[in-house]
Amino acid sequence: MSTAPIDHSPPALRLEELYFTYPDGVQALRGVDLTIHKGERVALIGANGSGKSTLLKQLNGLLRSPHGRVVVGGLELSTSSLTEIRRQVGFVFQDANDQLFCPTVAEDVAFGPLHLGLPMREVLQRVRCALEQVGLSEFSHRVPQRLSAGEKSLAALATVLACQPEILVLDEPTATLDPYHRRRMIDLLRSIPVTQLIATHDLDLAWELCPRVVILRQGRIVQDNSASLLLSNAELLKQYQLELPLQLQGLASSPISDPVT
Ligand SMILES: Nc1ncnc2c1ncn2[C@@H]1O[C@H](COP(=O)(O)OP(=O)(O)OP(=O)(O)O)[C@@H](O)[C@H]1O
Ligand SMILES: [Mg+2]
Repeated sequence: MSTAPIDHSPPALRLEELYFTYPDGVQALRGVDLTIHKGERVALIGANGSGKSTLLKQLNGLLRSPHGRVVVGGLELSTSSLTEIRRQVGFVFQDANDQLFCPTVAEDVAFGPLHLGLPMREVLQRVRCALEQVGLSEFSHRVPQRLSAGEKSLAALATVLACQPEILVLDEPTATLDPYHRRRMIDLLRSIPVTQLIATHDLDLAWELCPRVVILRQGRIVQDNSASLLLSNAELLKQYQLELPLQLQGLASSPISDPVT
């Protein structure tokens, strides 16, 4: 009888006993333990202010907690490992304005690959490819700050994809997208075979993409289980100010009335 090979590689991400308090005294993380294995796609959900963005920002050292540990691919986050960890973790911010600062979209997308020291031919190829992946091929000469909110989100994702990170951390990737681009985003994320941690209020995205769901409440992980178990449980979701994904609300079987009349 053959058995599955044992994977001895370290987890992609490990957070241990993480606490974080903002300078004004707001306690945003209150003892978070989380392990994510290579290739997993995990949704991080929770009400506004539950600590999702704060947690994600620990993963590439944007925020540093004086307590606890952050370990990425076996490497503990510290001042000396920060550069290497930022190479491994591609972070797409909740607010794309935090990510776009160059005069043109192409320059923004080229920034990361140039920083990695790649040859110019490779940089240009990555820029082309990343813009194509997010559907912004025609936008390379546009001024990032003058894009629409959705276009900015896609451009911000392209800046990260161009670096080909081993781990993708996305904060509300569909919040500004129209239905067409949201669908493209879901298909794109599904096609990228790297570890992904996605903070989202889009529970339909979580349902479609993420086999595992983590629920955060007031800076603590209160549920960590399969999407099929958590996202189909209306009573449980309600406890955390969440609702069933629309796909599970049986809309098709209910009569649809015209909202205008
Ligand atoms: N720079 C900051 N200074 C002080 N408090 C902050 C700061 N940023 C966030 N907070 C607070 O920390 C807590 C967690 O915020 P965070 O942004 O991590 O929540 P979130 O789950 O990402 O929320 P949302 O769903 O609205 O994006 C909230 O109470 C918030 O008000
Ligand atoms: Mg947030």
